[in-house]
Amino acid sequence: MNKTVKQCRHFFQLALCYPLLVMAENNPALDYEQARWHPLHFKPAIETATNEQCLACHQAVLQPQVKAQSPAGIQSKTVLAWYQTLTVYAGEQDTFHRRHLVTPLAKELMNLQCNTCHQGHDPREEAVIPPTSANATFTLRKTVNPETTCLKCHGQFNAQLMGLPEPWHQIREIMGDNCLLCHATIRTTRHQVNYLNSEAIEKAGQKNADACYGCHGGRAWYRISYPYPRHPWPGQSQYVPDWAKDRH
Ligand code: HEC
Ligand code: HEC
Ligand code: HEC
Ligand code: HEC
Ligand code: HEC
Repeated sequence: MNKTVKQCRHFFQLALCYPLLVMAENNPALDYEQARWHPLHFKPAIETATNEQCLACHQAVLQPQVKAQSPAGIQSKTVLAWYQTLTVYAGEQDTFHRRHLVTPLAKELMNLQCNTCHQGHDPREEAVIPPTSANATFTLRKTVNPETTCLKCHGQFNAQLMGLPEPWHQIREIMGDNCLLCHATIRTTRHQVNYLNSEAIEKAGQKNADACYGCHGGRAWYRISYPYPRHPWPGQSQYVPDWAKDRH
């Protein structure tokens, strides 16, 4: 066993070290560098990679890893972050990957794959050298593009575009806490993408507006909203608002 693997075993709790150990045990033919530069990480192979293929080395990303207590002694059970206060939030503190792939809510509403977020990159062009403040189209090796992934479900609620006078959390009661008040007839052709369970989403939204709000402002990490495509819907008016002119 080489030195890196030994070091890794020492720090075995680090998620990144698991692939190494798994490899060393299951596939002695692949050394660390070979696995790290495995073609599955990059285009085009990553486009058709299955979760199982990735998990063969990276099963650790789905193992529970949240500590029961912080170094300062705070019990993780007793703290909730602002984005964990929606009524659809359930269960104990969990990791990022598990919250998107294996929690009951994630499984019910979504069908995310490793390659929904990890879309690959060109290994030879990891970063611009020298660094530049211009909008260069380079990505760091493990970078996931936030504008085309995270923003879709973690952008701001776009009250202005909806013609609503206030952000949702201030007017939800006046609206009967119900997105479907309007969205039973407006923009009804929605969520027809392979990473969402569209029927389950509609059912969840009928029961609880927080299910909808959860992906449309209730867990916003950004100050901007995602410019969603505007799919034609039955009964749509001929009038196209200015903001919608480029939406297809
Ligand atoms: C043959 C084993 C193997 C397979 C299959 C594999 N990986 Fe990896 N992966 C590795 C190793 C080894 C590393 C490097 C870990 C380190 O540097 O500590 C790595 C690193 C990564 C990183 C972090 C990159 C960085 O710069 O820190 C990500 C993200 C990743 N893999 C995602 C994936 C995804 C998604 C798939 C499936 C499409 C996949 N891997 C398939 C072994 C594998
Ligand atoms: C919701 C989007 C999303 C999905 C789905 C996803 N990842 Fe990640 N993953 C990320 C982000 C974001 C990071 C952190 C990237 C960074 O630090 O630059 C990350 C980091 C990683 C890393 C680096 C180690 C770590 O834990 O930080 C590995 C390995 C990895 N992902 C593998 C996978 C595998 C395997 C799957 C499928 C089972 C998967 N990911 C699914 C977004 C995702
Ligand atoms: C398809 C929709 C979707 C995408 C894309 C998505 N998320 Fe999420 N995210 C969710 C949902 C739904 C939850 C709540 C899951 C739950 O409560 O079990 C969530 C929860 C979270 C949480 C909270 C985890 C916790 O401990 O409560 C973070 C942080 C997060 N997402 C960050 C990201 C980042 C960063 C990306 C991009 C790499 C991303 N998300 C992409 C839908 C998405
Ligand atoms: C008072 C009526 C009303 C309510 C209530 C309402 N919306 Fe909307 N929503 C609209 C209108 C109007 C549009 C723009 C329709 C169009 O494309 O012309 C819209 C558009 C959207 C869009 C697309 C935005 C874009 O950039 O294309 C999303 C996403 C959305 N609403 C989600 C929600 C969610 C989630 C809720 C509940 C938390 C909600 N809406 C409550 C009226 C409403
Ligand atoms: C798991 C996350 C998630 C949930 C839950 C969710 N949405 Fe969405 N919504 C998305 C994503 C991602 C898109 C963009 C999909 C695409 O690119 O076509 C979207 C698109 C939309 C759009 C734009 C429709 C169009 O013209 O394509 C509307 C309107 C909308 N959602 C309303 C709702 C309503 C109402 C609910 C509750 C019944 C809801 N969403 C629940 C993630 C979610």
